[in-house]
Amino acid sequence: MYEILSRQDLVHDIHLFKVAAPNVARKAQPGQFVVIRIDEKGERIPLTFADWDEKEGSVTIIFMEVGTTTCRLALLGTGDFIANLVGPLGVPTHIEKFGTVVCAAGGVGVAPIMPIARAMKRAGNKVISIMGARNKGLLFWEERLRSASDQLIVTTDDGSYGRKALVTEPLKELLESGEKVDRVIAIGPSIMMKYCALTTKPFGVKTIVSLNPIMVDGTGMCGCCRVSVNGVTRFACVDGPEFDGHQVDWDLLFARQRIYLYEEKRSLEQCQSEMEVAKIHGKT
Ligand SMILES: Cc1cc2nc3c(=O)[nH]c(=O)nc-3n(C[C@H](O)[C@H](O)[C@H](O)COP(=O)(O)OP(=O)(O)OC[C@H]3O[C@@H](n4cnc5c(N)ncnc54)[C@H](O)[C@@H]3O)c2cc1C
Ligand code: FES
Repeated sequence: MYEILSRQDLVHDIHLFKVAAPNVARKAQPGQFVVIRIDEKGERIPLTFADWDEKEGSVTIIFMEVGTTTCRLALLGTGDFIANLVGPLGVPTHIEKFGTVVCAAGGVGVAPIMPIARAMKRAGNKVISIMGARNKGLLFWEERLRSASDQLIVTTDDGSYGRKALVTEPLKELLESGEKVDRVIAIGPSIMMKYCALTTKPFGVKTIVSLNPIMVDGTGMCGCCRVSVNGVTRFACVDGPEFDGHQVDWDLLFARQRIYLYEEKRSLEQCQSEMEVAKIHGKT
């Protein structure tokens, strides 16, 4: 059992848990993730390291409520326990001194990009970060990301904070400005990562994306996280989750992400009605 040492509600629907997991914290690296299961009947879901503290023996995960498991997770708090937390999983981010690295984060993607930006800066890179969200109310960790970057550009879709733009706009401007960009790392919703890759492609700048297909075991056994990269089938859990964004078959990824939409909706509705019943009987 893994104890939740602290909980922080970062913005509406996005929560941070610091979880006691000394063996995982000892080996965590940027870009890797854990698979958690709330209890013995729960489904497994992957969540990327937002941070870790080897001395404290803790890992930090940040998640957005999108369906049954993340909504159930959001009901837990400090002192509660998660049944299983397996990791670190996946191939760590390739960190080296490339020169100038642009870290582009969309929405909750700020969480996984944070350790990557920090490691890239420590490796001697000039780090330019771009963080974007739909509106001001969904932005978090601005100062934290600023501290790991030489320059930070903040965008919102509706212009309620920072620049009114999608993250791809300042990214394109940077590339057009003549600034020599050696690598781009884009993490966020799949559509945002696809468009970041399309933006950088004409400029020939290698663009790493962190794919988020549905995962089950997280160890390369079930094939659920199958993606196609450069025409070759890869398993995101063991071969990724990071891949060259210019080589990803995005249409296949989008199609596979939608396979269980009906079941996911039914499951969430059932979960919500169970929670309502529990509330009426004073059980939550
Ligand atoms: C390697 C990896 C790392 C991830 N790290 C994080 C993280 O750090 N923080 C975080 O909030 N989320 C992360 N995700 C996504 C997270 O795993 C899903 O949001 C979660 O599995 C949804 O479970 P659910 O039961 O709450 O929702 P479900 O009922 O399974 O899905 C609800 C809706 O959410 C969307 N969804 C489902 N699975 C995913 C997915 N894998 N990616 C994007 N949207 C999805 C679909 O539109 C679906 O309709 C990661 C995914 C992967 C593959
Ligand atoms: S999640 Fe099963 S093979 Fe990747």
